[in-house]
Amino acid sequence: MSAPWVSISDLSSHTGSEVLVQGWLYNMRSSGKIHFLQLRDGTGTVQGVMVKSEVPEADFETAKGLWIEASVRVRGIPRVDARAPSGIELTVTGIDVIQNPTQEYPIGKKEHGIDFLLDHRHIWLRSSRQVAILRIRDRVIWSAREYLHNDGYTLVDSPILTGSIGEGASGLFELDYFETTKAYLAQTGQLYAEAAAAALGKVYCFGPTFRAEKSKTRRHLTEFWMIEPEVAFYDHVRNMDLQERLVSHIVKEVLAHCRAELEILERDIPKLEKVVAPFYHLQYDEAIDMLHKLGSKTPYGDDLGNEDETILTQQFDKPIFVECYPKKVKAFYMKQHPDNPDLILCDDLLAPEGYGEIIGGSQREDDYDRLLARIREQGLPEASYDWYLDLRRYGTFVHSGFGMGIERVVAWVCGLQHIREASPWPRTIYRLVP
Ligand code: 4AD
Ligand code: MG
Repeated sequence: MSAPWVSISDLSSHTGSEVLVQGWLYNMRSSGKIHFLQLRDGTGTVQGVMVKSEVPEADFETAKGLWIEASVRVRGIPRVDARAPSGIELTVTGIDVIQNPTQEYPIGKKEHGIDFLLDHRHIWLRSSRQVAILRIRDRVIWSAREYLHNDGYTLVDSPILTGSIGEGASGLFELDYFETTKAYLAQTGQLYAEAAAAALGKVYCFGPTFRAEKSKTRRHLTEFWMIEPEVAFYDHVRNMDLQERLVSHIVKEVLAHCRAELEILERDIPKLEKVVAPFYHLQYDEAIDMLHKLGSKTPYGDDLGNEDETILTQQFDKPIFVECYPKKVKAFYMKQHPDNPDLILCDDLLAPEGYGEIIGGSQREDDYDRLLARIREQGLPEASYDWYLDLRRYGTFVHSGFGMGIERVVAWVCGLQHIREASPWPRTIYRLVP
């Protein structure tokens, strides 16, 4: 009878009987009579101990000639071993090679430059650090969707190819849409989520979004994933409450399920454990005052710069809402502040430790005339918003929503230096390959 194929993560429930592991050799050490085969299969890693006198001669010789990242089928008996990181070691009984590379694996132990690693992203993904990041990314997305689903939200997908500009005329990827018109890659799904909120009440969209900004910061990608809830009859205050509940849930779930990954990344876990409600709130003018005390030269009335967000959030141990920015620095759809026509009912949620904006949200302008005036002020093509204005013509309603950038959240939760590692296939001004 042939040994059953078992995932490395399940080896502990098969101790004492022969199993088959299928995976890759990520390292090997030999001492003449013993090979120590470090194996990984995507579910975990295990050390296979191959003793010359206990396996067929040919198998021992084959193992000797393996290159790193050879794909293999290894038979062996899992045994409890307190010294092994996973608590299990595999006593190897035989090996079949699926493929032995004919050359040395390009990613070695030595330090590689970031460009080299990004050029080899397709294989860099196999490293334990990248695997940890991808698992945390999966948990961030899963926990966000779970939270919204359990809170009564319906996922309503929005188009990637659009005819109306979602955020603003700068930073658009434009393409010819057959002979007659231009199409844009979606900067946001928000306008469509607003229409869906009038149909279903509590909705969200989740998909890739695109910004043709020539930003070379550690926070910007040209393609990123955004989760965008939109809620009928939520005002600015309830909108922030939802953001706080969602973000604290995500962090709690990552802490509960991804400890090992956070440890691989050497994340300062106690700092994440502090991320519980209530978060801090600053009005825009308070943020500017604080920034001036910290040495920033950004004048009242301007948007916060990258550096501002860094120094501001270094002062806090939890996320910070910055509320009610000046109208002139924000998008056309945000609702005018009832007490000050120069401000809007919006918030940016900034992650602590220097990370900065992870969410941008607002109450939406529900007044037809004001919204139309804003579209005209910003020089946007009015005709392409006729459908959007219908939402204010037929039963307009107080509503609010926000966009949370997945890679920004992952970079913060994982403690990454740069957002590019938070995406499996980062797209930046200079990078479309692989
Ligand atoms: O603040 P933004 O531009 O807001 C919107 O797009 C709204 N329409 C969302 C909404 O209300 N439904 O972007 C929202 C979030 C940011 O807070 C950030 O997390 C992320 O999207 N983001 C980026 N992430 C990576 N690279 C970029 N270039 C990003 N631009 C925005
Ligand atoms: Mg923003």
